[in-house]
Amino acid sequence: MKIRPTKGLTFDDVLLVPRRSPISSRQAVDTSTRLTTGIRLNIPVISANMDTVTEAPMAIAMARAGGIGILHRFNTIEQQVRQVNKVKRAQGFMVETPYFISVDATLAEARRMMDSLHVGGLIVVDGDRNLAGMLTNRDVQIAPESIKWVREAMTERSKLVTAGPAITPEEAQELLYNNRIEKLPILDANGTLVGLVTARDVIKPLKFPQAAQDERGRLRVGAAIGVKDREMARAEALLEAGADVLVLDIAHGHADHCIAMLGSLRRHFPQAQIIAGNVASVDGARELAEAGADAIKVGIGPGSICTTRIVTGFGVPQLTAILDSAEGVRLSGRDIPIIADGGIKVAGDMVKALAAGAETVMIGSLFAGTEESPGSPVIRDGQKFKVVRGMASLGATMGRREAERGEDESAEDSEDWDKVVPEGVEAVVPYRGYVSEVLYQLVGGLRSGLSYGGAHDIKGLQDNAEFLEITPAGVRESGSHDVRKI
Ligand code: XMP
Repeated sequence: MKIRPTKGLTFDDVLLVPRRSPISSRQAVDTSTRLTTGIRLNIPVISANMDTVTEAPMAIAMARAGGIGILHRFNTIEQQVRQVNKVKRAQGFMVETPYFISVDATLAEARRMMDSLHVGGLIVVDGDRNLAGMLTNRDVQIAPESIKWVREAMTERSKLVTAGPAITPEEAQELLYNNRIEKLPILDANGTLVGLVTARDVIKPLKFPQAAQDERGRLRVGAAIGVKDREMARAEALLEAGADVLVLDIAHGHADHCIAMLGSLRRHFPQAQIIAGNVASVDGARELAEAGADAIKVGIGPGSICTTRIVTGFGVPQLTAILDSAEGVRLSGRDIPIIADGGIKVAGDMVKALAAGAETVMIGSLFAGTEESPGSPVIRDGQKFKVVRGMASLGATMGRREAERGEDESAEDSEDWDKVVPEGVEAVVPYRGYVSEVLYQLVGGLRSGLSYGGAHDIKGLQDNAEFLEITPAGVRESGSHDVRKI
C-alpha cells in the first residue's frame, strides 16, 4: 500500500497563468490538432461514443464543424455499419455506390424507394447493371396516372450528360451549371456506371470549409468497438464501410484483455487507426502506447453521468490523469496524442485539458442536449430537456444485453435487472439547439485561451502552460459573483 504525497487535481482546482501574447486577433490562431498519429482535425473536439450522444446526425455535424463523432456500439453490427454509411454518404465529391432501380420496375416501387432512402433521384439500370436512364423526384411527381413504369417516366440514357471517372470537382461544377442539371452519372471507359456527382456534392464542401474529410472528400467518422472476441467482426465490418478510426472502448482500458485485443487489432488491421482507453495513470497510458495504440483516451470517472469513483473507489481527478498519461506516453518513446475524455463543463475546462497535454477532448453531456443527439426533447415545467445516460447506467446496461442477445442467440437470456451494478446514471440536460452553436462557444473560448496563453496553436499552449493551484475562494471568485444574474 502507498499513499501518493501529492493531491489529485481537476479542472476547477487550477487556473492558467496569463502569458505575454503576440496574438492580436482571435482569428490569428490555429485550432487544428492530431486526433491520432494519422488523422488531423481542424478543431480539437470529439463527440462521445454514447447512445444518447453520437449517431449519424451528430457525427455529420461534428465532422462538418472540423471535429469528429465516434458512433456508439450499443447496437448490432449492421445498425452501426448503417450509421457509418450515412455519414460517408452525407458529403463527398462522388457517390461511388449510387442508389439504383431496374428499368423494369414500376413507378410505385421507385416512389417507395425514394421515400425510404430520402433521395431525390435514382439511377436506372438494365439487366447488366448498365446505365439505362435517370429518374428524378420531379419525374415521379408529375407523371400522369397512365404512366406506370420507370422506363416510361425516366430521362433516357441518350439524353443524359455523363462524365468519366477522372473528372475534377471544378469540371463537374462547370458541366452541371452549363447543362442546368443536378446529377452527373460517372461512367468508366466501358460505359459501366461507377459513380454519381450531384450539385449538392459540389456545393457542400464550399459550405463547410473546416470539415474533417477523408482523401475522397467524405466526412470523417469514428466508431467504437468492445473487447470481446466477436468484436473483431464488428471492427472488420466498420473498416470495410469506411470508418476512419476505431475506438477500443473499455471502462478500464489498462487490462490484459484490452491490451490483447489491441494486439489482435494491430495484427489483423495494420493500416487501421486505433484509439485505445480509458486509462488514468502513467503505466496505463505507457502500456497502451507500447501495445500499438494510435491515440490514448484518458478518463476514469470524470464524466458528468459517471459514478465509477463512488461505486468502486477508483479514479484519478482529470487534470492529474491527463498529466500522468502524458508522462506515460513520453516514457513509451512513441509520439502519440492523448484524448481527454469526460468532465468538460465549459470552454475553460477544454483549454486546461489541452494545456495539460491532451490534443483533443471528448464530450458527452454537453452535446447530449443538442438537436443532433439521438432522441427528441422532453418538456418539463415548461422547459425543453434531452435525456443523457451513462453507458454503465442501469438502463444502458440492460439495453446492451438486449442487443447482445439479438446478435448472439446463445447468450444468456435470464439476466435480472437487480443483478446489475450500475456505474453511471440516467439524467436530463437542458436543450441547447444545434451542436454547431455549442461548438462555436467552445472554439471561441479556445481561441481566446490561446491568446491568453501567448500561443499560436495548441502545441504552443502546452509549451507555455503554467498552472496555479487555487483555493475555494479562488474558485468562487472565478465565476460571476455578488450579482443577481438576469
Ligand atoms: P461528459 O462529462 O462529457 O463525459 O458527459 C463523457 C464520458 O463519460 C464516460 N462515461 C461513463 N463513465 N460510467 C462512467 O463511469 C458511465 O456509465 C459512463 N458513460 C460514459 C465516457 O468516457 C464518456 O465519453
